[in-house]
Amino acid sequence: MSRKISFCVAACLILTSVFAARRSLNSITDLIDCHLSEHTNILELLHWFANEVDVDNHIRLTFDPASDYGSHHYGNFEGMLEPLPWGYQYYTIGNIYEDDSDALPSYVRNPHRNIDDNNRARIIIRVNEGHSGPHPGQIIDQVYITQHSDEGTNYDPDNTYRITPSLLHAIRRRNITEIQQLARRSHRENASTRPQGQPTRYVHEAQYKPSTENNDDFLRRFCYAILVIIVIVALNVCLQNSFK
Ligand SMILES: *[C@@H]1O[C@H](CO)[C@@H](O)[C@H](O)[C@H]1NC(C)=O
Ligand SMILES: *[C@@H]1O[C@H](CO)[C@@H](O)[C@H](O)[C@H]1NC(C)=O
Repeated sequence: MSRKISFCVAACLILTSVFAARRSLNSITDLIDCHLSEHTNILELLHWFANEVDVDNHIRLTFDPASDYGSHHYGNFEGMLEPLPWGYQYYTIGNIYEDDSDALPSYVRNPHRNIDDNNRARIIIRVNEGHSGPHPGQIIDQVYITQHSDEGTNYDPDNTYRITPSLLHAIRRRNITEIQQLARRSHRENASTRPQGQPTRYVHEAQYKPSTENNDDFLRRFCYAILVIIVIVALNVCLQNSFK
């Protein structure tokens, strides 16, 4: 019996690590090099966020993520992020057309940068709130950035990244003007190394065409499906044994 339980636990751990494989951004350079920084207002949104929350040994909530700044609960119904342990919730921040989002600084809502859309970037946080609902002081144990997607699902899983605490610290040490300047310089350099006459937009659209990244995604989903089946079979065996 206990061997069966260990098997169930092992299967769940493997399942979790499939999700945890999502890429992490650890420095301002990583952030500037990621697709979102050139096409969305993520630099500005993340700069606001890094300065809004408490960052010491832990990252802690300072606002109500169920309503303040236009944020709200995120259901993760597409399974884009890992399944939540008991007592945790995901919240999404960054829709500038929600009630209360005008509390966001104007540099977030109107970044004065050449981007595609001011309302595309999102931050998703995972809060450990137990059974009490969210309130200030609770620990945010995971931070993700992503973009709102025009394709079917809510968010774009291929452009979703985990943000490390050290990146949040790095962002707090710089003002937004500095970060925007670094990004402009890097994006300009990249643009000049692109083949002549090829506009940025093609690079952007290429993200949605079949590519190795999408193959990885397919593989990830395939593994996930197999593991779900293993877990169901394992649970079945465990349950049958415990009724004997
Ligand atoms: C800029 O170029 C580097 C190296 O080719 C690449 O890794 C990075 O993703 C590019 N950044 C953007 C924003 O396209
Ligand atoms: C931002 O930081 C840079 C470099 O430290 C400084 O020169 C600039 O005055 C700062 N800008 C603002 C708006 O604080």
